Amino acid sequence: MASSLKNVIVVGGSFVGRTTAQEIARVIPTTHRVLLIEPHTHFHHLFTFPRFAIVPGHEHKAFIPYSGLFAAVPNPTAHSVVTARVVSVHENKTLTLDREWQGSRQISFEYLALATGTRLAEPAGMKDDDKASSVAYLQRHQADIKNAKSILIAGGGAVGVQMATDLAEYYPDKEITVVQSRPHLMPQFHKQFHEFVSKRFQDLGVKLVTGARLVVPPEGFPKSGPFDVQLTNGTSVSTDFVVLATGQTPNTGLIQSLPGGAELINPANGFIRIKPTLQVADDRYPEIFAVGDVADTGARKAARPGAGQAAVVARNIQALIEGRAADAETEKPGAAGIHITLGLVSPLILFWKYNIVFRNPDPAAGQTEPMIRERHDGSLDMNVEGMWDRMNVKPDEEAKYHL
Ligand SMILES: Cc1cc2nc3c(=O)[nH]c(=O)nc-3n(C[C@H](O)[C@H](O)[C@H](O)COP(=O)(O)OP(=O)(O)OC[C@H]3O[C@@H](n4cnc5c(N)ncnc54)[C@H](O)[C@@H]3O)c2cc1C
Ligand SMILES: *[C@@H]1O[C@H](CO)[C@@H](O)[C@H](O)[C@H]1NC(C)=O
Ligand SMILES: *[C@@H]1O[C@H](CO)[C@@H](O)[C@H](O)[C@H]1NC(C)=O
Repeated sequence: MASSLKNVIVVGGSFVGRTTAQEIARVIPTTHRVLLIEPHTHFHHLFTFPRFAIVPGHEHKAFIPYSGLFAAVPNPTAHSVVTARVVSVHENKTLTLDREWQGSRQISFEYLALATGTRLAEPAGMKDDDKASSVAYLQRHQADIKNAKSILIAGGGAVGVQMATDLAEYYPDKEITVVQSRPHLMPQFHKQFHEFVSKRFQDLGVKLVTGARLVVPPEGFPKSGPFDVQLTNGTSVSTDFVVLATGQTPNTGLIQSLPGGAELINPANGFIRIKPTLQVADDRYPEIFAVGDVADTGARKAARPGAGQAAVVARNIQALIEGRAADAETEKPGAAGIHITLGLVSPLILFWKYNIVFRNPDPAAGQTEPMIRERHDGSLDMNVEGMWDRMNVKPDEEAKYHL
């Protein structure tokens, strides 16, 4: 079915892509529509994956239908969510999908926003695109964890730290070890973060090994042990289960499919170079924007700065459609910060849900010490139902969370 509307396409329907699509839909004229292209059949509330890979009973709520995405914008029926993966972008303002949509694998665009983010290893990112397989995967992971007496976590970033503290509290009898290649946990933060979390590890009995990596066998690790894992420092450790909580890789294949696209990748970090307007940094492609984790904005990789960027992209696409110039993003990236859970249910004080807000000192504001705020207001399901609300899906009965 051919449409006479011009397409403004957002590729990637995670935290930043979803906001970008909504912001654009709010401001574009009725001559245009938004297509959000995403292979996942449901929105992945990935903040919850580390916990739901351990704690059973809530995993189905981490996958939220896209049906309400355009519910609160003008002209809701003009816009669509396309369930597909984009395989390439062409100079003639078309892109190719991995499957047909409305009878074709090619879609043309007038404007394009890439919100393709990064790829994370399981369990922080799902391998499958459909809800049933992803729910089944998390349930298998919960069972594997339950059966293991000792668990080795590779990676001392946010995912590793969160999983280690959750595991130690949910299963106090298991032996938990975190192996971190760098001398500090989450080294992008001030070293007080490392000191704070190491102390928490000690209190919970989590072992920390720094300055070594796991040697991952080509066939992967067994799902049950005991088996030996080689460390790069020459020793080996016996464990029953390994969780890979190692880094994330930017999804930049699409921009690289364009002529000159390879030069748009910053070799220092792998992210897409952008202008202050969030247009990609190549004058040949004024209609292509990059936003969120995949863009080399200098902002911290998180949903909130992504929301500010989404608004900038929408404003600039609106300006270009109206024949005006695109404007620079005005928001300066602030000091790096994080809100992270450090466990869930203390065996002594039930429903004591510990989390901290940590912010690096901002020299521009004359700060020399980081800010650490301790809170006990977490919940076992990480308020996942609130995300359904924000996605405009409001199940009136429990069973509908399985849809
Ligand atoms: C465990 C964890 C906890 C976190 N907690 C917080 C938090 O509390 N607060 C916070 O602000 N941030 C948090 N973050 C960071 C936050 O999740 C990221 O900053 C955010 O997800 C980035 O969003 P994004 O849309 O840019 O990219 P991503 O979330 O990486 O999503 C990219 C999307 O693009 C899609 N895609 C990729 N390639 C293609 C293609 N070729 N065609 C179509 N689609 C494609 C993918 O399927 C994916 O859905 C957390 C991250 C993790 C891992
Ligand atoms: C655009 O370019 C691609 C790749 O060269 C090609 O497959 C496609 O047919 C072209 N589409 C149009 C409408 O010209
Ligand atoms: C390697 O790391 C393990 C775990 O911390 C430690 O016990 C061992 O002494 C280290 N080995 C070497 C050779 O540094």
